[in-house]
Formats: sequence, structure tokens, C-alpha cells
Amino acid sequence: MIITIDGPAAAGKGTLATALSKKYELAYFDTGMVYRAVGLEMVLTGVSVDDETTAEKYAQNLTFEKMSELSKHPDFRSNVGAQAASKVSALPKVRAALLKMQQDFALNPVFADGTPAKGAVYDGRDTGTVVCPSADIKFFVTANPEVRAMRRYKEFVAKGIKTSLEKVLGEIKERDKRDSERASAPLKAAPDAICLDTSEMNAQEEIAAADVFVQNFLFKNSR
Ligand code: DC
Repeated sequence: MIITIDGPAAAGKGTLATALSKKYELAYFDTGMVYRAVGLEMVLTGVSVDDETTAEKYAQNLTFEKMSELSKHPDFRSNVGAQAASKVSALPKVRAALLKMQQDFALNPVFADGTPAKGAVYDGRDTGTVVCPSADIKFFVTANPEVRAMRRYKEFVAKGIKTSLEKVLGEIKERDKRDSERASAPLKAAPDAICLDTSEMNAQEEIAAADVFVQNFLFKNSR
């Protein structure tokens, strides 16, 4: 079973992807990591994030091992990493170079320790539209920018990262604009995606709402 979960930053994709992958014993592919890895490598090597040729080269040479190594860097999840990822993800050659790696995972999904899984949950912006257009279940998770900013702000505070709610809201709006206006794979729901607005839902409510669709799919396919 392949499940895709697309949507803007801090909409609740990761929460849902983690819960569904655990419940149904599926591998979890956080596709934002591929763009964060390339973006961070550009930052660490002092290359401008607009340099498409170098970004393409880094994307072509990206492996799961290298991504896992880069993910240990403090800026991988910081706003520096997020903005660099958003910028390199707008470069068509980077997206093309990272597509196969993401699509191949659906053919042989594995858990973090390398053991095979019987399916995968993809978390991203274009996983239902471009990466896995024939996924079994597609979700498009969203929430209003103020709610998403508050969620992200609380995560930063919990991690001891100093910032303000206004700054986080500004960064979210900036990323939303770039992610949805880029020419290559702009953020949008697949026509057959199930749309969930989580603005007024807590994590448990979001998971329960999505799980109804997964159970329905499994029921239909068991007959
Ligand atoms: O989900 P995230 O915050 O880790 O994503 C970082 C950036 O990567 C985000 O601004 C847009 C980009 N991205 C993308 O273009 N396509 C994806 N499937 C996942 C992420």
C-alpha cells in the first residue's frame, strides 16, 4: 500500500505520516529531506542556492546514507535549512534529478534499519501529483497560516530555538508563496486527493479523520 500526504509546511503531514506508518507497518519517506539535504550541502559548501548546475550535481549524487549524515547537522531542520530547501526545490533540474530516488523507494520500501516493508507513506508537496501519481490513497493536508505558524513556533520553543511568532508566520508565508508559485511541480492537491483541513483539529482528530479513509480502502480491497 502506498499512501501520499502532501500539503504546506506545518499542516500536520509529519504527524499523520508517522501515525499511519506505525499503525499499518509501512516505511516512511519524508521527501522534504531530499531538498533539505541538497540545500544544506549548498550552504555548507558556500555555493549560492541559485546555482542550478551545482545543485543538480549534488542532487544527482545524493544517497540515503548521505542524506542521513546531513540530517544530523543542526541547520538541517532550522530555518536556514528550510529556506535553502525551498529555494533549491524550485529548480527544475534538481527536482528531475531527485525524482527517481523518490520513485524507486515505492518499488522497494524499507524501514530506517533497512528491513523491507510492505508499503510506504510519502510525506511531501508533490508526492501524490508527481512522485507517486498512482498511489493507493492520497491526502492533501492543510491548515490556515496562523495555525501552522503557531504549531511551528511551539516546536522551535520546545527545541530551545529563539524566534518570534511573527517571524515564523512570515517565513511560512514566504515558503508557501514560493512552493505554490514555482513553475516546476507547484504545491497543489492531486485531483483525486482527500483534502483535510486540520486548522481546528488536534493530532488525534487529524489521525482519526484520515484513518477512516485508510480503513475504507483496506475493507474494499479485502473483498
Ligand atoms: O517538508 P519540508 O519543510 O521538510 O520541506 C522543505 C522544502 O522542500 C519545502 O519548502 C518545499 C520542498 N519540498 C518539495 O518541493 N517537494 C516535496 N515533495 C517535499 C518538499
